[in-house]
Amino acid sequence: MTAESESGAEHEPEYDDTAIRFLAVVWGDGYLSPGGPEEVDRVLSGLDLAGKSVLDFGCGAGGITLHIAKKYNPAEVVGYDVEQPVIDRARLAAVREGLTAQVRFIATPPGTLPFDDDEFDLVFSKDAMIHVDDKEWLFSELFRVLKPGGRLAASDWLIAHDGEPSSEMQDYIAAEGLRFGMASPQRYLQAMTAAGFVDVSAENRNAWYREVARGELERLSGPLHAQAVAAVGEEYVAKNIRTWGAMQKVLDTGEHCPTHLRGSKPGGGHP
Ligand SMILES: C[S@@+](CC[C@H](N)C(=O)[O-])C[C@H]1O[C@@H](n2cnc3c(N)ncnc32)[C@H](O)[C@@H]1O
Repeated sequence: MTAESESGAEHEPEYDDTAIRFLAVVWGDGYLSPGGPEEVDRVLSGLDLAGKSVLDFGCGAGGITLHIAKKYNPAEVVGYDVEQPVIDRARLAAVREGLTAQVRFIATPPGTLPFDDDEFDLVFSKDAMIHVDDKEWLFSELFRVLKPGGRLAASDWLIAHDGEPSSEMQDYIAAEGLRFGMASPQRYLQAMTAAGFVDVSAENRNAWYREVARGELERLSGPLHAQAVAAVGEEYVAKNIRTWGAMQKVLDTGEHCPTHLRGSKPGGGHP
């Protein structure tokens, strides 16, 4: 790994300071995905992380990484991302909350993860895998860095089917303007299994987010509007209201399906 790649600086950020400020208004400080700590807790339900080492893959601005550190008493949580602005925010938040002994944040450009084989007891990820096109590569990397007996507990934004997205989905992806590599639950489960994961499962969260997103759009157009405009300006908010409208269509048809994913690396004891 070069010094340049350690900084992550060569990669043009999609989640820049404006996006971070805007999403903090809608989803909470340090959160770049919906549902807050309650949804994180649902992703982690039934897992005991006390004394364990945890990787938060695609940690963004670190709100979730810090929540895991505070609530679950792990030995260590490492937040990893490919973008520098989110990692800068996350590091500041860790200092502010006095969590630097328990939490580290690392940015590198996309590619081989900067971690040893068998390093973590748990890989967590929230709504970040969508940005990685090659799911087979992704799950083999996450499998590699897990200890035998380690667990994967994640949430991501999937598409209900393989093949061409509907025109509504294409409109939504274009409105987001982010690099989305959406894949079906079947593709995820196959990629996880091919990587070596066992006990793999996918739980469709469309019914939950369909209603949550409706409320987000209502708040963004109503009670949160002034706060959002103060944070990022009228034009940015208007663009995002259009994006939310496009997203609601594909949530309502079920084509956009946020999904919880679980898998285990065989061997050892489970966290
Ligand atoms: C929707 S945000 C979610 C961030 C955080 N997990 C959360 O829920 O607040 C997606 C994150 O994935 C990151 N990301 C994009 N490509 C990635 C990659 N190849 N590897 C790891 N993270 C990536 C982005 O920089 C961004 O921070």
